[in-house]
Amino acid sequence: MIFEEGLTMKIGFTDKKKGAIGVVMFEGEEKKTSEEYGVGEFNASEGKRQLMAIDKNSKIVFAGLGKKNQFDAETLKKAIGQIVATFSTYKEKEITIDAKRVENAASTVVEAVILSQYSFSKYRKEKEEIVKIEKINLLEKQNREVEKQVNETQAIANAVNFARDIENEPANVATPTYLAELAKKTAGGKNVKCTIFDEAKLKELKCGALLGVAAGSTQPPVMVTLEYAPKKYSKTIAFVGKGITFDSGGISLKPSKDMDQMKFDKNGACAVIAIVKAVSELELPIKVAGVFAATENLPSGRATKPGDILTAYNGKTIEVLNTDAEGRLILADALSYTEKNYKPDYIVDIATLTGACVVALGSPASGLISNNEKLAKEVLKAGEESGDKCWQLPLWKEYEERIKSDIADVRNISTIDKEAGAITAAAFLKQFVGETPWAHLDIAGTAWATAPRDYYCKGATGAGVRICVKLCQNLAKQISNV
Ligand code: BES
Ligand code: ZN
Ligand code: ZN
Repeated sequence: MIFEEGLTMKIGFTDKKKGAIGVVMFEGEEKKTSEEYGVGEFNASEGKRQLMAIDKNSKIVFAGLGKKNQFDAETLKKAIGQIVATFSTYKEKEITIDAKRVENAASTVVEAVILSQYSFSKYRKEKEEIVKIEKINLLEKQNREVEKQVNETQAIANAVNFARDIENEPANVATPTYLAELAKKTAGGKNVKCTIFDEAKLKELKCGALLGVAAGSTQPPVMVTLEYAPKKYSKTIAFVGKGITFDSGGISLKPSKDMDQMKFDKNGACAVIAIVKAVSELELPIKVAGVFAATENLPSGRATKPGDILTAYNGKTIEVLNTDAEGRLILADALSYTEKNYKPDYIVDIATLTGACVVALGSPASGLISNNEKLAKEVLKAGEESGDKCWQLPLWKEYEERIKSDIADVRNISTIDKEAGAITAAAFLKQFVGETPWAHLDIAGTAWATAPRDYYCKGATGAGVRICVKLCQNLAKQISNV
């Protein structure tokens, strides 16, 4: 058995066809597969699944992948999600997956098993009854390349679940200080340096936008930097996360319906911690900086009010016309700090930034907006390859017109209400990154699932982690190919 050491799940290759077996296959392969297993035929259209008994000790779940010419890795992940869901009701601890009719399936299968069996149950008494799969056997031949891919995928999928664990924490637990301490702990023992800027330091740094959002809360704000640097590197990429641990809207208070979901307004920051963790585990040959700003956004007698003017780290003044557009405020400081102090080759920010992005793209893809077409293409590609998809929206100058203020350098909401809200938010962020190639990922629609979907249970999804780690892997590959 290989891949066992220090991992959360044992993964191995086998040729045994007994116990709890999940089989995926394309349309047209039904007969061949049913003969192989000595069972009756089933329907292999996409999304179909069927449970059968082989003998009294073995159960088999067939999951259809549909037509081969319409197949992509996401189809396989969803099918594996169905198999995992079936076996979890039978409390199986060890499963065997037969995906031999799909080329290079091993790492995709492993990713889907790890993501689909995630649950957040630490606050539930019945949690003892939730049986987790401890071992996956793959009916596939192993070789060094497959082994390496599977190990990498496992590290990344575990980082996604690590992000989900923080994201799912409620706001009374996951305060800005909690996130800072968690980042420090995560960095410990690895090749990662962590620095925490507390409220006093933020005042000294003149992070007026972050402090302005934090003014209404009794929880102190933080800005945290994580730095992973291999011995030799030629490129630096920085990830910047929005860490609003609870977004009530502030004085521009949100409606109470679904306000609980605003504990997920920190998911960009959580993704940043997980990205740095994964990159350091993969020991990629690039420097990666992870920066996040964290605070609550609450109303109080001390809170920032509509009409107030704040001054960001880079000296730009911001007219705050809606205190619920707070994510862009804290990112203004975090982005300009990152650009000035790391001088990175690329900056990618990750933020649950706008309801408008949820309207535009829904849950299948994050919004992507960039000042650099080459970087945008790389991010889109990383999205496709990782399954953590994004879709680009334009950033034409017409949109930038809409964030000009009469009395400050910029305003925090567009002059035109209910139009292009995801884009005008990005037009605002652009004012804080200078000339550095920058891409913004709006994960408002992808960061959590309001009901189980695909291979995710209800709750946080870790959106942003897979796409950004893939971006780093691709960047590392390009460098070593030069
Ligand atoms: N955190 C929200 C964005 C959000 C809304 C994320 C719904 C996920 C689901 C953000 O801080 C916000 O409130 N944005 C406002 C901006 C508006 C006031 C210009 C929004 O989208 O309504
Ligand atoms: Zn808000
Ligand atoms: Zn917010």
